[in-house]
Amino acid sequence: MRVLVCGGAGYIGSHTSVVLAGRGHDVVVADNFSNSSPAVLQRLEQLIGRALEAHCLDVRDGPGLAALFSKQSFDAVLHFAALKSVGESCARPLDYFDNNIAGTIVLLRAMRDAGVARLVFSSSATVYGEPASVPIDEDAPLSATNPYGRTKLVMEQLIDDVCAADPDFQAISLRYFNPVGAHPSGLIGEAPNGIPNNLMPYVCQVAAGQRESLQVYGGDWPTVDGTGVRDYIHVMDLARAHVDALEKLDGVRGHLALNLGVGRGVSVLQLVQAFAEASGRQIPYRIVDRREGDVAEAWADPRRAHAMLGWRAQLGVEDMCRDAWRWQSMNPEGYAET
Ligand SMILES: NC(=O)c1ccc[n+]([C@@H]2O[C@H](COP(=O)([O-])OP(=O)(O)OC[C@H]3O[C@@H](n4cnc5c(N)ncnc54)[C@H](O)[C@@H]3O)[C@@H](O)[C@H]2O)c1
Repeated sequence: MRVLVCGGAGYIGSHTSVVLAGRGHDVVVADNFSNSSPAVLQRLEQLIGRALEAHCLDVRDGPGLAALFSKQSFDAVLHFAALKSVGESCARPLDYFDNNIAGTIVLLRAMRDAGVARLVFSSSATVYGEPASVPIDEDAPLSATNPYGRTKLVMEQLIDDVCAADPDFQAISLRYFNPVGAHPSGLIGEAPNGIPNNLMPYVCQVAAGQRESLQVYGGDWPTVDGTGVRDYIHVMDLARAHVDALEKLDGVRGHLALNLGVGRGVSVLQLVQAFAEASGRQIPYRIVDRREGDVAEAWADPRRAHAMLGWRAQLGVEDMCRDAWRWQSMNPEGYAET
Protein backbone atom coordinates (compact mmCIF):
# COMPACT_ATOMS: atom_id res chain seq x y z
CA MET A 1 0.00 0.00 0.00
CA ARG A 2 1.03 3.62 -0.44
CA VAL A 3 0.62 5.19 2.97
CA LEU A 4 0.71 8.81 4.09
CA VAL A 5 2.21 9.00 7.58
CA CYS A 6 1.19 12.31 9.16
CA GLY A 7 3.51 13.04 12.08
CA GLY A 8 5.91 10.44 10.67
CA ALA A 9 9.00 12.29 11.92
CA GLY A 10 7.91 11.93 15.55
CA TYR A 11 8.72 9.22 18.04
CA ILE A 12 6.06 6.63 17.22
CA GLY A 13 5.55 7.66 13.59
CA SER A 14 9.25 7.22 12.78
CA HIS A 15 9.37 3.70 14.22
CA THR A 16 6.16 2.80 12.42
CA SER A 17 7.56 4.13 9.13
CA VAL A 18 10.49 1.72 9.44
CA VAL A 19 8.21 -1.27 10.05
CA LEU A 20 5.88 -0.18 7.22
CA ALA A 21 8.76 0.04 4.74
CA GLY A 22 10.16 -3.26 6.01
CA ARG A 23 6.83 -4.93 5.19
CA GLY A 24 6.91 -3.61 1.65
CA HIS A 25 4.65 -0.57 1.89
CA ASP A 26 5.46 2.77 0.22
CA VAL A 27 5.81 5.42 2.90
CA VAL A 28 5.35 9.16 2.47
CA VAL A 29 5.95 11.28 5.56
CA ALA A 30 4.17 14.59 6.23
CA ASP A 31 5.22 16.51 9.33
CA ASN A 32 5.47 20.16 10.34
CA PHE A 33 8.45 19.33 12.62
CA SER A 34 6.86 21.24 15.50
CA ASN A 35 8.01 18.48 17.85
CA SER A 36 10.61 16.63 15.81
CA SER A 37 13.75 17.16 13.80
CA PRO A 38 14.15 16.78 10.03
CA ALA A 39 17.39 14.98 10.97
CA VAL A 40 15.31 11.89 11.71
CA LEU A 41 14.67 11.51 7.97
CA GLN A 42 18.31 10.61 7.22
CA ARG A 43 18.21 8.02 9.98
CA LEU A 44 15.02 6.59 8.51
CA GLU A 45 16.62 6.35 5.07
CA GLN A 46 19.57 4.56 6.64
CA LEU A 47 17.24 2.04 8.30
CA ILE A 48 14.95 1.62 5.30
CA GLY A 49 17.85 1.37 2.85
CA ARG A 50 16.33 3.73 0.28
CA ALA A 51 15.18 7.31 -0.25
CA LEU A 52 12.11 8.38 1.68
CA GLU A 53 9.61 10.92 0.38
CA ALA A 54 8.93 13.50 3.08
CA HIS A 55 7.04 16.79 3.11
CA CYS A 56 7.19 19.64 5.56
CA LEU A 57 3.44 20.03 5.86
CA ASP A 58 0.99 20.98 8.59
CA VAL A 59 -2.16 18.85 8.69
CA ARG A 60 -4.15 22.08 9.15
CA ASP A 61 -2.97 23.17 5.70
CA GLY A 62 -5.93 22.05 3.56
CA PRO A 63 -4.57 23.30 0.20
CA GLY A 64 -1.19 21.71 0.97
CA LEU A 65 -2.85 18.36 1.67
CA ALA A 66 -5.05 18.66 -1.42
CA ALA A 67 -1.96 19.29 -3.55
CA LEU A 68 -0.26 16.22 -2.10
CA PHE A 69 -3.33 14.03 -2.61
CA SER A 70 -3.75 15.27 -6.16
CA LYS A 71 -0.18 14.31 -7.16
CA GLN A 72 -0.33 10.69 -6.04
CA SER A 73 -2.92 8.25 -4.82
CA PHE A 74 -2.76 6.93 -1.28
CA ASP A 75 -4.37 3.75 -0.01
CA ALA A 76 -4.41 4.87 3.61
CA VAL A 77 -3.39 7.50 6.14
CA LEU A 78 -1.69 6.94 9.50
CA HIS A 79 -2.43 9.98 11.68
CA PHE A 80 0.14 10.58 14.43
CA ALA A 81 0.25 14.39 14.06
CA ALA A 82 -0.76 15.91 17.38
CA LEU A 83 0.56 17.80 20.37
CA LYS A 84 0.80 15.40 23.30
CA SER A 85 1.87 17.00 26.57
CA VAL A 86 -0.80 17.00 29.30
CA GLY A 87 0.84 19.85 31.25
CA GLU A 88 1.30 22.00 28.16
CA SER A 89 -2.31 21.36 27.14
CA CYS A 90 -3.49 22.84 30.46
CA ALA A 91 -1.41 25.97 29.81
CA ARG A 92 -2.23 26.24 26.07
CA PRO A 93 -5.67 24.67 25.52
CA LEU A 94 -6.41 26.74 22.40
CA ASP A 95 -3.23 25.53 20.71
CA TYR A 96 -4.10 21.95 21.55
CA PHE A 97 -7.68 22.18 20.30
CA ASP A 98 -6.52 23.95 17.16
CA ASN A 99 -3.63 21.65 16.34
CA ASN A 100 -5.24 18.35 17.26
CA ILE A 101 -8.92 18.82 16.48
CA ALA A 102 -8.78 21.36 13.67
CA GLY A 103 -5.87 19.38 12.19
CA THR A 104 -7.92 16.19 12.22
CA ILE A 105 -10.92 17.92 10.62
CA VAL A 106 -8.79 19.33 7.80
CA LEU A 107 -7.08 15.97 7.27
CA LEU A 108 -10.38 14.03 7.22
CA ARG A 109 -11.85 16.50 4.75
CA ALA A 110 -8.81 16.27 2.48
CA MET A 111 -9.05 12.47 2.63
CA ARG A 112 -12.74 12.55 1.75
CA ASP A 113 -12.15 14.92 -1.17
CA ALA A 114 -9.36 12.69 -2.47
CA GLY A 115 -11.33 9.48 -1.99
CA VAL A 116 -8.91 8.07 0.61
CA ALA A 117 -11.08 6.07 2.99
CA ARG A 118 -8.71 4.16 5.28
CA LEU A 119 -7.33 5.62 8.51
CA VAL A 120 -5.28 4.40 11.45
CA PHE A 121 -5.44 6.96 14.25
CA SER A 122 -3.17 7.48 17.30
CA SER A 123 -5.46 7.52 20.29
CA SER A 124 -4.47 7.08 23.89
CA ALA A 125 -5.39 5.37 27.13
CA THR A 126 -6.02 8.92 28.34
CA VAL A 127 -9.54 8.56 26.87
CA TYR A 128 -10.40 6.35 29.87
CA GLY A 129 -9.88 9.30 32.24
CA GLU A 130 -9.63 7.95 35.78
CA PRO A 131 -10.45 4.27 35.25
CA ALA A 132 -12.72 2.67 37.84
CA SER A 133 -10.93 -0.68 37.63
CA VAL A 134 -8.06 -2.49 35.93
CA PRO A 135 -7.39 -4.04 33.48
CA ILE A 136 -9.11 -1.54 31.22
CA ASP A 137 -10.97 -2.87 28.21
CA GLU A 138 -12.34 -0.90 25.28
CA ASP A 139 -15.87 -0.86 26.70
CA ALA A 140 -14.78 1.03 29.83
CA PRO A 141 -16.43 4.47 30.14
CA LEU A 142 -14.65 7.26 28.30
CA SER A 143 -13.85 10.61 29.88
CA ALA A 144 -11.10 13.17 30.01
CA THR A 145 -9.29 14.85 32.86
CA ASN A 146 -7.32 17.47 30.91
CA PRO A 147 -7.42 19.38 27.57
CA TYR A 148 -5.07 16.92 25.82
CA GLY A 149 -7.36 14.03 26.77
CA ARG A 150 -10.38 16.00 25.60
CA THR A 151 -8.78 16.50 22.18
CA LYS A 152 -8.24 12.73 21.85
CA LEU A 153 -11.85 12.04 22.85
CA VAL A 154 -13.19 14.56 20.35
CA MET A 155 -10.94 13.23 17.60
CA GLU A 156 -12.26 9.70 18.21
CA GLN A 157 -15.84 11.06 18.12
CA LEU A 158 -15.13 12.89 14.87
CA ILE A 159 -13.92 9.65 13.32
CA ASP A 160 -17.03 7.84 14.65
CA ASP A 161 -19.24 10.39 12.92
CA VAL A 162 -17.31 10.33 9.65
CA CYS A 163 -17.62 6.52 9.61
CA ALA A 164 -21.35 6.75 10.36
CA ALA A 165 -21.85 9.21 7.50
CA ASP A 166 -19.76 7.26 5.00
CA PRO A 167 -20.10 3.47 5.12
CA ASP A 168 -17.00 3.10 2.94
CA PHE A 169 -14.78 4.87 5.47
CA GLN A 170 -12.73 2.38 7.53
CA ALA A 171 -10.87 3.46 10.65
CA ILE A 172 -9.02 1.95 13.56
CA SER A 173 -8.12 4.05 16.60
CA LEU A 174 -5.26 2.57 18.57
CA ARG A 175 -5.33 3.51 22.26
CA TYR A 176 -1.73 3.39 23.39
CA PHE A 177 -0.86 2.81 27.01
CA ASN A 178 2.74 3.90 27.83
CA PRO A 179 5.05 3.71 24.80
CA VAL A 180 8.77 3.44 25.66
CA GLY A 181 12.00 2.06 24.20
CA ALA A 182 13.63 2.63 20.84
CA HIS A 183 14.60 0.89 17.60
CA PRO A 184 17.22 -1.76 18.43
CA SER A 185 19.74 -0.08 16.09
CA GLY A 186 19.91 2.95 18.41
CA LEU A 187 19.44 5.18 15.33
CA ILE A 188 15.95 6.42 16.19
CA GLY A 189 14.25 6.93 19.54
CA GLU A 190 12.37 9.41 21.69
CA ALA A 191 13.97 12.86 21.65
CA PRO A 192 11.99 15.13 23.95
CA ASN A 193 12.43 18.90 23.83
CA GLY A 194 13.48 20.29 27.20
CA ILE A 195 12.49 18.51 30.40
CA PRO A 196 10.95 15.12 29.55
CA ASN A 197 7.30 14.69 30.55
CA ASN A 198 7.45 10.92 30.60
CA LEU A 199 9.19 8.56 32.98
CA MET A 200 11.49 6.60 30.64
CA PRO A 201 13.21 9.54 28.89
CA TYR A 202 13.66 11.17 32.29
CA VAL A 203 15.24 8.00 33.71
CA CYS A 204 17.53 7.86 30.63
CA GLN A 205 18.74 11.39 31.29
CA VAL A 206 19.33 10.70 34.99
CA ALA A 207 21.30 7.56 34.10
CA ALA A 208 23.36 9.60 31.63
CA GLY A 209 24.13 12.20 34.31
CA GLN A 210 22.18 14.93 32.50
CA ARG A 211 19.72 15.25 35.40
CA GLU A 212 20.48 14.83 39.07
CA SER A 213 17.65 12.62 40.23
CA LEU A 214 14.21 11.32 39.40
CA GLN A 215 11.14 12.59 41.21
CA VAL A 216 8.68 9.80 41.90
CA TYR A 217 5.17 11.17 42.36
CA GLY A 218 3.71 9.39 45.36
CA GLY A 219 5.06 6.50 47.40
CA ASP A 220 1.81 5.71 49.17
CA TRP A 221 -0.40 4.45 46.35
CA PRO A 222 -2.21 1.18 47.05
CA THR A 223 0.18 -0.75 44.76
CA VAL A 224 2.87 -3.40 45.07
CA ASP A 225 5.51 -0.93 46.34
CA GLY A 226 3.53 2.29 46.79
CA THR A 227 4.49 3.79 43.43
CA GLY A 228 2.22 4.22 40.40
CA VAL A 229 1.69 1.23 38.13
CA ARG A 230 1.45 1.57 34.34
CA ASP A 231 1.43 -0.61 31.24
CA TYR A 232 4.70 0.10 29.42
CA ILE A 233 4.81 -1.04 25.82
CA HIS A 234 7.85 -1.21 23.54
CA VAL A 235 7.59 1.23 20.63
CA MET A 236 8.54 -1.56 18.18
CA ASP A 237 5.55 -3.63 19.35
CA LEU A 238 3.42 -0.53 18.90
CA ALA A 239 4.83 0.11 15.42
CA ARG A 240 4.07 -3.47 14.37
CA ALA A 241 0.50 -3.10 15.61
CA HIS A 242 -0.03 -0.12 13.27
CA VAL A 243 1.04 -2.12 10.26
CA ASP A 244 -1.12 -5.06 11.37
CA ALA A 245 -4.05 -2.64 11.75
CA LEU A 246 -3.44 -1.16 8.32
CA GLU A 247 -3.34 -4.58 6.71
CA LYS A 248 -6.57 -5.61 8.48
CA LEU A 249 -8.48 -2.38 7.76
CA ASP A 250 -10.29 -3.86 4.78
CA GLY A 251 -12.15 -6.26 7.06
CA VAL A 252 -13.30 -3.47 9.38
CA ARG A 253 -16.73 -1.88 9.11
CA GLY A 254 -16.87 1.59 10.60
CA HIS A 255 -14.62 2.68 13.45
CA LEU A 256 -12.86 0.16 15.66
CA ALA A 257 -10.98 1.15 18.82
CA LEU A 258 -8.27 -1.14 20.18
CA ASN A 259 -6.07 -1.00 23.27
CA LEU A 260 -2.35 -1.40 22.74
CA GLY A 261 -0.64 -2.51 25.90
CA VAL A 262 1.21 -5.50 27.25
CA GLY A 263 -1.61 -6.26 29.69
CA ARG A 264 0.66 -6.15 32.71
CA GLY A 265 1.34 -3.39 35.23
CA VAL A 266 4.88 -2.29 36.16
CA SER A 267 5.54 0.11 39.03
CA VAL A 268 7.81 3.15 38.79
CA LEU A 269 10.33 1.51 41.11
CA GLN A 270 10.23 -1.76 39.17
CA LEU A 271 10.98 0.18 35.99
CA VAL A 272 13.79 2.10 37.69
CA GLN A 273 15.29 -1.17 38.94
CA ALA A 274 15.07 -2.79 35.50
CA PHE A 275 16.70 0.27 33.93
CA ALA A 276 19.53 0.26 36.48
CA GLU A 277 20.21 -3.39 35.60
CA ALA A 278 20.05 -2.78 31.84
CA SER A 279 22.31 0.27 31.96
CA GLY A 280 24.63 -0.64 34.82
CA ARG A 281 23.98 2.88 36.16
CA GLN A 282 22.55 4.12 39.43
CA ILE A 283 19.22 5.97 39.17
CA PRO A 284 18.99 8.27 42.19
CA TYR A 285 15.36 9.07 42.97
CA ARG A 286 13.28 10.83 45.57
CA ILE A 287 9.64 10.27 46.42
CA VAL A 288 7.58 13.47 46.32
CA ASP A 289 3.87 14.26 46.66
CA ARG A 290 1.34 12.70 44.33
CA ARG A 291 0.38 14.75 41.27
CA GLU A 292 -3.21 15.82 40.90
CA GLY A 293 -5.12 13.70 38.41
CA ASP A 294 -2.77 10.70 38.65
CA VAL A 295 -4.21 7.25 39.30
CA ALA A 296 -2.68 4.35 41.23
CA GLU A 297 -2.84 1.77 38.47
CA ALA A 298 -3.66 1.70 34.77
CA TRP A 299 -3.07 -1.23 32.52
CA ALA A 300 -4.71 -2.62 29.43
CA ASP A 301 -6.80 -5.56 28.60
CA PRO A 302 -5.22 -6.07 25.14
CA ARG A 303 -7.28 -9.12 24.13
CA ARG A 304 -9.36 -7.32 21.53
CA ALA A 305 -6.24 -6.26 19.59
CA HIS A 306 -5.20 -9.90 19.60
CA ALA A 307 -8.61 -11.08 18.47
CA MET A 308 -8.95 -8.49 15.70
CA LEU A 309 -5.35 -8.15 14.50
CA GLY A 310 -3.62 -11.29 15.73
CA TRP A 311 -1.26 -8.85 17.45
CA ARG A 312 0.30 -9.32 20.84
CA ALA A 313 3.17 -7.44 22.51
CA GLN A 314 6.34 -9.52 22.36
CA LEU A 315 8.94 -7.40 24.11
CA GLY A 316 9.38 -7.07 27.87
CA VAL A 317 10.60 -4.43 30.29
CA GLU A 318 14.22 -5.57 29.91
CA ASP A 319 14.04 -5.00 26.13
CA MET A 320 12.42 -1.59 26.67
CA CYS A 321 15.16 -0.48 29.09
CA ARG A 322 18.03 -1.91 27.04
CA ASP A 323 16.86 -0.25 23.82
CA ALA A 324 16.04 3.09 25.50
CA TRP A 325 19.52 3.10 27.05
CA ARG A 326 21.24 2.23 23.75
CA TRP A 327 19.43 5.14 22.06
CA GLN A 328 20.32 7.50 24.92
CA SER A 329 23.98 6.42 24.97
CA MET A 330 24.39 6.74 21.20
CA ASN A 331 22.50 10.08 21.03
CA PRO A 332 23.00 12.02 24.26
CA GLU A 333 21.69 15.17 22.56
CA GLY A 334 18.90 13.43 20.63
CA TYR A 335 19.02 14.33 16.94
CA ALA A 336 20.79 17.62 17.66
CA GLU A 337 24.20 16.26 16.66
CA THR A 338 23.13 14.89 13.30
N1 LIG B 1 4.14 9.01 23.27
C1 LIG B 1 3.13 8.74 24.05
O1 LIG B 1 3.30 8.51 25.26
C2 LIG B 1 1.73 8.67 23.49
C3 LIG B 1 0.73 8.00 24.22
C4 LIG B 1 -0.56 7.95 23.70
C5 LIG B 1 -0.85 8.57 22.48
N2 LIG B 1 0.14 9.22 21.82
C6 LIG B 1 -0.22 9.87 20.54
O2 LIG B 1 0.57 9.30 19.52
C7 LIG B 1 0.87 10.28 18.51
C8 LIG B 1 2.34 10.31 18.28
O3 LIG B 1 2.99 10.55 19.52
P1 LIG B 1 4.57 10.68 19.61
O4 LIG B 1 4.96 10.24 20.98
O5 LIG B 1 5.21 10.05 18.44
O6 LIG B 1 4.69 12.26 19.55
P2 LIG B 1 5.72 13.18 18.74
O7 LIG B 1 5.52 14.56 19.19
O8 LIG B 1 7.10 12.60 18.82
O9 LIG B 1 5.19 12.99 17.24
C9 LIG B 1 4.14 13.76 16.69
C10 LIG B 1 4.64 14.32 15.37
O10 LIG B 1 3.59 15.07 14.78
C11 LIG B 1 4.10 16.30 14.32
N3 LIG B 1 2.99 17.25 14.34
C12 LIG B 1 2.32 17.78 15.40
N4 LIG B 1 1.36 18.59 14.99
C13 LIG B 1 1.39 18.59 13.63
C14 LIG B 1 0.65 19.23 12.61
N5 LIG B 1 -0.33 20.10 12.92
N6 LIG B 1 0.95 18.98 11.31
C15 LIG B 1 1.94 18.12 10.98
N7 LIG B 1 2.70 17.49 11.90
C16 LIG B 1 2.41 17.73 13.20
C17 LIG B 1 5.23 16.65 15.28
O11 LIG B 1 6.18 17.52 14.70
C18 LIG B 1 5.83 15.27 15.54
O12 LIG B 1 6.82 14.94 14.60
C19 LIG B 1 0.27 11.58 19.03
O13 LIG B 1 -0.97 11.75 18.41
C20 LIG B 1 0.12 11.35 20.51
O14 LIG B 1 -0.93 12.12 21.04
C21 LIG B 1 1.41 9.28 22.27
